[in-house]
Amino acid sequence: MKSDTIQDARLDSEKLPFHVAMIMDGNGRWAKQRLMNRVKGHEKGSKTVRSIVTAARELGIGMLTLYAFSTENWARPKIEVSALMMLLKRFLVSERDTLMTRGVRLNILGQQEKLPEDIQREAEKTVEMTRSNQGMVLNLALSYGSRQEITQGVQTLARKIKAGSIQPNDITEEMISDHLYTRQMPDPDLIIRTSGEYRLSNFMMWQAAYSELFITQTLWPDFTRDDFVEILINFQERDRRFGRVKCSTLKDGSPQ
Ligand code: IPE
Ligand code: IPE
Ligand code: MG
Repeated sequence: MKSDTIQDARLDSEKLPFHVAMIMDGNGRWAKQRLMNRVKGHEKGSKTVRSIVTAARELGIGMLTLYAFSTENWARPKIEVSALMMLLKRFLVSERDTLMTRGVRLNILGQQEKLPEDIQREAEKTVEMTRSNQGMVLNLALSYGSRQEITQGVQTLARKIKAGSIQPNDITEEMISDHLYTRQMPDPDLIIRTSGEYRLSNFMMWQAAYSELFITQTLWPDFTRDDFVEILINFQERDRRFGRVKCSTLKDGSPQ
């Protein structure tokens, strides 16, 4: 166990997922239940982001990816989009010190060029500042869409073929992975979605091939560190087979 992490006694640090991704959903419904504006739900949701980043770091998670804004979310009312961008900017600026003291490195996954310029600048600054941090990687998926990610990767590969630097048969799964926003990152071991929706909503469709999925009914603003720990306990009890035969059924590890 790393000395700078506060493990939960119910967790086995050897069996923790390295990369946890979260589809943070349910802010609007949380507000609606309280007869409040959707923006209030996003405000409360951004507090959850802070507490879950802290929890993930303390629990010893290596990489946390948070789906914060999808390519399709641009189609929401302008006022809601502006409020989300304002909260995002606030997060990028106000969390700098905390990310530095906790040793968290920030990455942005998605179409950064589509974000307002001030957000791009603040994001770049935080990414740059945290570049050498070694404690945990935090990926914020912003203006992220898996189909767009794959499309731009395919376009880059097609350009390389046209230029003659690679041949079509040279393309491997690894090469495709290396042309996504998540290049050089391990696939998520665990994907959690809050608010009881059973879909990926254009999130990590290539990378999720063998991710364990966990859907919780809890709305994102209500999601707590304890909920997270319960899900990690559930993950540790699962048998990840990757299409093979369960390891414990094999006496010498060879196929039966
Ligand atoms: C998730 O909450 C936040 C974003 C998608 C930006 P929603 O805003 O989707 O909340 P619901 O699904 O409407 O409750
Ligand atoms: C997914 O939630 C995107 C994020 C959490 C950022 P949505 O609320 O946009 O997804 P749908 O529309 O319910 O599929
Ligand atoms: Mg939603």
